[in-house]
Amino acid sequence: MGLAPMDGITDEPFRLMIAKYGKPDVITTEFVSAEGICHGATKPLSALIYNEIERPILAQVFGSDPQSFYKSAFVFCELGFDGIDINMGCPAKNITAKGSGASLIQTPELAKKITRETMRGVSDWAKGKKIKDSGLPDTIIDYLNLHRPKMVKRKVLPVSIKTRIGYNRDCAEEWVKHLLESKPANISIHGRTLKQMYTGKADWNAIGHAAEVARGTETTILGNGDIESIEDGLAKVKEYGVDGFLIGRAAFGNPWIFQVKGPEIMLRDRIKAAIKHSELYEEIFGNKHFVHMRKHLAWYLKGFPGAGEIRKKLMQTSSAQEVKEVLQYAHESDKGT
Ligand SMILES: Cc1cc2nc3c(=O)[nH]c(=O)nc-3n(C[C@H](O)[C@H](O)[C@H](O)COP(=O)(O)O)c2cc1C
Repeated sequence: MGLAPMDGITDEPFRLMIAKYGKPDVITTEFVSAEGICHGATKPLSALIYNEIERPILAQVFGSDPQSFYKSAFVFCELGFDGIDINMGCPAKNITAKGSGASLIQTPELAKKITRETMRGVSDWAKGKKIKDSGLPDTIIDYLNLHRPKMVKRKVLPVSIKTRIGYNRDCAEEWVKHLLESKPANISIHGRTLKQMYTGKADWNAIGHAAEVARGTETTILGNGDIESIEDGLAKVKEYGVDGFLIGRAAFGNPWIFQVKGPEIMLRDRIKAAIKHSELYEEIFGNKHFVHMRKHLAWYLKGFPGAGEIRKKLMQTSSAQEVKEVLQYAHESDKGT
């Protein structure tokens, strides 16, 4: 079971909450652009900050230029990731318009080339090729020299793919057959087409058929889409013959989701978690963009009767201290809930 990557959500503070409260078997970062890296952009690399307690952790990358995947593989290896996950599922227009994300479903030859180039980068790095010979720009090399962990053992990292069941119709079997040719370690399949975006229901039958295609190969298949709990995920593993599953949106405001039969979560636990998350956010990013933290605060208090007023106040907070003040008041007036 793994945490699905979600841009704007699965940042370092969120992932630390997940690792602390109910650790899944694998965690993935938000996506970074392979082409952006090759143009020397270092700011987006903040998405790649991680903590040892998150391991195994995969870096997710998107793009459409195979050469950029080759070069950026060196970055993920140097930063000590446990694997590289290629995004072939994002439906956002700004991504697909450039041939990246889910639009790769329409260009399977390019998709295979991208996977192979990423693997070639990983393999060259494992064999000892230096980053100065990788073709990466100086800004990225300087960044790596500053941020590289002390001890990174050169080894061949697994390369995986995250995708959807099709572009505008279910073509999961055919698409997975293509992807298997480049022998990725894993393919995670979200049971919707690009056209569906996030509407309708995830088609688990389509995921199951794709899993059949991969059976007997060395590539594992993780199913994804609309899973509400671990029990739900495990039932789907049995029913659809996948090797495991990813959970995305059900983790919003619910870092306990990966606990199997954990204790009942009370309002006071949610308050504590919201405060902890705010503190982590501030520790890691400062409070300049605290506005990004507010949606998490609303999720922590979702569904509690009478929490509407508190949520409104939380939507105006700009620091962990302000969150504490609002929530400690709520906690005091709601002891024992
Ligand atoms: C806000 C948001 C951002 C997402 N960003 C990414 C992403 O960067 N990379 C990716 O592979 N999938 C991304 N996804 C898709 C999720 O990983 C997952 O496939 C999808 O939400 C379905 O799973 P769920 O029903 O468990 O949420 C995103 C989904 C959401 C809701």
